[in-house]
Amino acid sequence: MSKAWHLISRPQGLPTMDNFALRELPDGPLEPDQLRVRNLWLSVDPYMRGRMNDAKSYAASFQIDQPMTGGAIGEVTESRMDGFAPGDMILHMGGWRDGGVVGLDMMPNKLPADALAAGLTPQTFLHNMGLTGGTAWIGLLRVAAAKPGDTVFVSAAAGAVGSAVVQIAKAREMTVIGSAGGSEKCTWVKDLGADAVVDYKAAPVLTGLTQALADLGKPGIDVYFDNVGGEHLDAAFATANDFARFAICGMIDVYNDGKAQEMKYLIRTIPARIRMEGFIYTDQFFDCMEEFYADMGGLIASGAVTMRETVHDGIESVPDAFLGLFSGANIGKMLVRL
Ligand SMILES: NC(=O)c1ccc[n+]([C@@H]2O[C@H](COP(=O)([O-])OP(=O)(O)OC[C@H]3O[C@@H](n4cnc5c(N)ncnc54)[C@H](OP(=O)(O)O)[C@@H]3O)[C@@H](O)[C@H]2O)c1
Repeated sequence: MSKAWHLISRPQGLPTMDNFALRELPDGPLEPDQLRVRNLWLSVDPYMRGRMNDAKSYAASFQIDQPMTGGAIGEVTESRMDGFAPGDMILHMGGWRDGGVVGLDMMPNKLPADALAAGLTPQTFLHNMGLTGGTAWIGLLRVAAAKPGDTVFVSAAAGAVGSAVVQIAKAREMTVIGSAGGSEKCTWVKDLGADAVVDYKAAPVLTGLTQALADLGKPGIDVYFDNVGGEHLDAAFATANDFARFAICGMIDVYNDGKAQEMKYLIRTIPARIRMEGFIYTDQFFDCMEEFYADMGGLIASGAVTMRETVHDGIESVPDAFLGLFSGANIGKMLVRL
């Protein structure tokens, strides 16, 4: 018997524990093209909030009274799927549960044995070698076309995507300004190599960003990697150099309440000729997967990109871990260990 978190009602605003229920899933016999899996690591990600709404988006809505899904690392315990055998470690989409049946719809992929043998932890494939690292790499290098010498501003810089952006940008000789909430996070972002850090909880982000640019002797930003939206995005409009590129990755500031975003400096898109592009990781990942794995694998092997985790333990803790993303409870990647 496995246990899976179900969505039992659609949240209004920030979700509460009342929106979720942990229920048992029956252990039936395996059908062809199915695996039985024991999960070891679960990912919680901000995009899952959107899947809790009944609204059309790039990722399908969670259905009421159905188990939720998400990124997970598991060990195969039984297989009726070609190419998989008991003992294989896989990345798949059957998260929010401690195990159970994984079909082709959950996109099982074996973790590369050579990478594990070389010392990469399995959960790295939920982070720097997976969704969040891939998002950082694609957004920075492909969408924003950031290049050595650019001044890059990245919000939520102490989070999973943001911390990868900081490190990839530094490895490519860019000047990096990160923003994060609170002194502990800001110190860590500086330790990752950022040239300046803005504590947006201590002062308005535009004040901090303007000061950071002055301290660094830079006229403005060439690239903005947006994880937050709202005042962060407006501060980026206000400080953009001519022909700046904005990679719009996420807007966590409005995921729960969908509040209106006031942009006082949006008009600067015209005189500064700002190019702004929203992107979804999966649209581009498969085209550049090999290049990403080679480049990111090299950056990790050389120590240029490191990984910090905030870990919750046990299947019971998944909603808490998820909700912690919205209060800034994580430094680095938020994970659940089973
Ligand atoms: N487009 C894509 O394909 C794609 C893929 C993956 C992720 N994303 C997006 O990338 C962003 C980061 O995702 P992640 O997985 O790396 O999460 P994360 O940054 O590890 O965790 C979320 C962080 O956001 C910050 N935050 C929360 N509410 C905030 C607010 N109102 N204002 C400012 N900061 C706030 C918190 O840090 P502080 O304590 O510093 O506030 C929190 O730790 C999210 O917007 C996510 O939706 C997009």
